[in-house]
Amino acid sequence: MNFLDKLEHPIYGIAGETADRLGVQAYAVGGVVRDIFLNRESKDIDIVVVGSGIELATAVASAISPNIHVNVYKNFGTAQFAYKDAVVEFVGARKESYRPDSRKPIVEDGTLEDDQNRRDFTINALAISLNGNTKGLLIDSFGGIKDIQDKIIRTPLDPDITFSDDPLRMMRAVRFATQLNFTILDRTFQAIQDNAKRLEIISKERIVDELNKILLSPTPSKGIILLEKSGLLAQFLPELLALKGVESIDGKKHKDNFFHTLEVVDKIRMVSNNIWLLWAALLHDIAKPRTKRYNPQVGWTFHGHEVLGARMADRIFKNLRLPVNEKLKYVKKLISLHLRPIALVEDQITDSAVRRLLFDAGDDIDDLMMLCEADVTSKNQRKVQLYLDNFAKVRVKLKEIEEKDRLRNWQPPISGELIMQTFGLSPSREVGIIKTAIREAILDGIIENDYNAAMELMLKEGEKLGLTLNNR
Ligand code: CTP
Repeated sequence: MNFLDKLEHPIYGIAGETADRLGVQAYAVGGVVRDIFLNRESKDIDIVVVGSGIELATAVASAISPNIHVNVYKNFGTAQFAYKDAVVEFVGARKESYRPDSRKPIVEDGTLEDDQNRRDFTINALAISLNGNTKGLLIDSFGGIKDIQDKIIRTPLDPDITFSDDPLRMMRAVRFATQLNFTILDRTFQAIQDNAKRLEIISKERIVDELNKILLSPTPSKGIILLEKSGLLAQFLPELLALKGVESIDGKKHKDNFFHTLEVVDKIRMVSNNIWLLWAALLHDIAKPRTKRYNPQVGWTFHGHEVLGARMADRIFKNLRLPVNEKLKYVKKLISLHLRPIALVEDQITDSAVRRLLFDAGDDIDDLMMLCEADVTSKNQRKVQLYLDNFAKVRVKLKEIEEKDRLRNWQPPISGELIMQTFGLSPSREVGIIKTAIREAILDGIIENDYNAAMELMLKEGEKLGLTLNNR
């Protein structure tokens, strides 16, 4: 079979002709070839040449147009350029060997097989020849096609070697298993367990990249369980690990918050691909171990876990080099508010409680409701249904009040400036007291959310404070 037909991008034809002209052998390799057999789209293109990657890249680029800018990375022997929606990377086939006295590999020119040897998994070590008399041939030296059919993640070499060459590959193994719903071969998984500690030499950014891909997979819990079992999770997010386990006193047990969290994450993934909402789900109960208490009357409590949880998110984001900007703010807000809708349902869905919720959540109210609905994970289906029905009522009420009172991203109908002008004040405690009184009265539904009602209340509050009108 001629597999060139499967490679749709025009670069392959041009690269093949150019390689023929230069008398070298070129191959499409890596993710692009794997994705043909997985029926997945892939974007970036990798081409290996038995010879100089830089030379081939330069020749291919000038065959296309003199205006293409080629980025050359001499130290790595690679070159790349962008062409028709894809980044195309060229690399010379290399062989790595290790001297017993040094961890630094000696890199030399090599054959295609040498190059494929150095790759992470058999499913990523497939190649399609682009030219010469093998043009169109699939080269599968390590049984990658069979592993795709059997849904197996396996390293081409002894996994201890593959993982010690690049420990990030342990995260990649879990990521591919989760994205593709594949199984990591026992021997390969054993090597991850044995080498998990080596993840410490990998940058947090690269680790988080893989973790985010796991969170965005169809069933993130599969990956997080693999991260836990392999010992990788302990290397970068031990706080999540601490959620694991069930304690029992006087026959009273609390739920396993690790598996509860995973259920919540999976449920969020079914309805959203917002990575930050997935992070909020992952961390929503993160402070439960630290706030856990046992009280013989009421059983297990986790008072204040939403407040401490939001604070812990700060540290976790910093540690993992996640953005500490409005994304973190959003995650912290959802964590700190995640009990509010449920508290509302348990008490009474009063207008003023709904108004306050809208006021505090602002535009993130829909995401918060999604998180709260996902947070209901009881085994008792009747209980679950009852909560969901009540949340539906909250949603109706939220809509009603939102339409009536416009509290989302609320702006005070009367500014501090106007208060100061009216009473001839400079910035002072009194201004704050009046502003708070107006906000509280609106949230409690005592006055309408409009200028006239707020003006009237401002005058009354001013009088109470003994202020006089500024007639100037
Ligand atoms: N590779 C590897 N070890 C790594 C990273 C990559 O051996 N730590 C090899 C694999 O052969 C991989 C190829 O380089 O197929 C390209 O890597 P990359 O673009 O990161 O990943 P893809 O496999 O293309 O998958 P994805 O695009 O989903 O990340």
